[in-house]
Amino acid sequence: MCGIVGYVGEREAQPVLINCLKRLEYRGYDSCGIALLGGSTEVYKDAVRIEALEKSLRPNDSQTGIGHTRWATHGKPSEANAHPHTDCTGKIAVVHNGVVENFLQLREQLTNEGHVFRSETDTEVIPHLIEKYYEGDLEQAVSRALVDITGSYAFIAIRADCREVVASRKDSPLIVGIGDKEYLIASDVPAVLDYTDRVVYLEDGDTVVITSASIKITRNGEQVTRAEDRIPWSVDEAQKAGYDHFMLKEIHEQPKVIRNTFAGHISALEPEIDLDMRKDIDFDNILILACGTSYHAALVGKHVIQRLTQIPVAVDIASEFNYSDTVLGNTLVIIITQSGETADCMRALKKAKELGCHTLVITNVVGSSATRIADEVLYIKAGPEISVAATKSFVAQLIMLYLLALSRASADVRSRGSLIAELRQLPNKVHEILDREVEIAEHGRYLARYESAFFVARGINFPIALEGALKVKEIAYIHAEGYPAGELKHGPFALLTPDTPVIAIVAKDNTYETLLANIKEIKARESPVIAIAEEGDDEIEKYVDFVIRVPRVDPIFSPVTATVALHLLAYYTAKERGCSIDTPRNLAKSVTVE
Ligand code: G6P
Repeated sequence: MCGIVGYVGEREAQPVLINCLKRLEYRGYDSCGIALLGGSTEVYKDAVRIEALEKSLRPNDSQTGIGHTRWATHGKPSEANAHPHTDCTGKIAVVHNGVVENFLQLREQLTNEGHVFRSETDTEVIPHLIEKYYEGDLEQAVSRALVDITGSYAFIAIRADCREVVASRKDSPLIVGIGDKEYLIASDVPAVLDYTDRVVYLEDGDTVVITSASIKITRNGEQVTRAEDRIPWSVDEAQKAGYDHFMLKEIHEQPKVIRNTFAGHISALEPEIDLDMRKDIDFDNILILACGTSYHAALVGKHVIQRLTQIPVAVDIASEFNYSDTVLGNTLVIIITQSGETADCMRALKKAKELGCHTLVITNVVGSSATRIADEVLYIKAGPEISVAATKSFVAQLIMLYLLALSRASADVRSRGSLIAELRQLPNKVHEILDREVEIAEHGRYLARYESAFFVARGINFPIALEGALKVKEIAYIHAEGYPAGELKHGPFALLTPDTPVIAIVAKDNTYETLLANIKEIKARESPVIAIAEEGDDEIEKYVDFVIRVPRVDPIFSPVTATVALHLLAYYTAKERGCSIDTPRNLAKSVTVE
């Protein structure tokens, strides 16, 4: 979703804002802009990328400014719709992430009062409202404007003659980075990492006023204090480190991420898992809610938890749950969200709490909005994930779900010890797949020539078929569908031709024989088949065109090995097609509108 940033301090604001925007680009990149404070407010915008914006800038020694990188909601990507937006005088400038729901009504009212609008955005009502209420105090004008606005927002405002930055949040993330005689406000932690590791996470309803020497946070007109936190990520973790793309770097980080995620939770001596969770919570069943790639992790989690604990698990897409009449009983609700900010997940979390359920969030981002609301939090340790398409965070989510299931596995599950031992070996198994990158790249180049593909599997790997298809869709722009292999014959068979490759994830579990039968049916329709199959499975060679080998693991862990191969496959398919891999068109990493 949109990324916003504000700076006030002793450096020149312009390069700081550009640098922060580059770090926030994964939140949206339809257009971008900055505004710098001087005798007037100077605004620069570009309809596309930050590099172009940077080249267009004139020297400016202002030490205060705001910036924005946009993911379009209201109004197409264009220079006019790019933020910052200004008031009639051009003195007030605002950047905003979120949706002003009553903007049409406000716009009409403000137009009748003589205000002139220049864009199609909902955001533009904010500077005009601030203009309307401004009587010499920017903070007060912002407070009065907030009364009129309904919807979700994190916005930052400046005014030409005030050397301060005022920001406020409701249902959209906002943090303050605290430096030495400087402050930064941003949507997300990676934006400020180059300048500080000290942050304050603002709460919903907070308004903050910063100058180079002070920070003041208020809520409902009362001054409040918020604790300062340290960011657990280093600047290096947010760099490409010589890789062509963040996505490739993040795929390669997976052995480390798996280790970091289970470290501290697995006892060195006993086959025990300790997640430091409340032991007194009683529940009869589990509902897991998530979006996008995290939803696929939830689907794998259902298999794993049910198999190891016999606790019934249901899974729903968060945005669907929000509008459903799902009947919950004594239910533990787990929300899986890498960012901890996805609007659909936030709404689902609040709904689950309202329904009286105990809530657990599995997330990557310390201090994110979801962590502030959930009853309990489990952190995956994926480090900053910059590529829009999730890779390492997905695998880390799977690891956390294994840990959760193993921690609840009934004591008489004899295999628990051996599963924990195998879990410890997963980083090495993932290394083995990464060692086959050149070979997988070859398959990616092959897949790149097609416009449509199916990904099929059965059982615990069906979610991985969905994930493989999603990755190819989002980064390689190939129409791809993930299907349970047994369902192809109920419709999709009509689409199978020699131009429709099928990627089959073949695990050596109880689905193996039927999946082989399905592959034979697919081959009879002349579709090329690539199998992801484990070493030692020689049988598969007879039925498919190509095999991507993954190491042998207990079938319960086969989603991890298959995923790593599929993420590499998608990466090299997209690379061959010349796609914008880290920032695919129309997508954003953290979607903070419903
Ligand atoms: C966006 C991202 C996906 C991500 C999904 C859910 O659509 O592009 O990569 O899986 O949001 O994000 P979350 O942060 O809630 O896991």
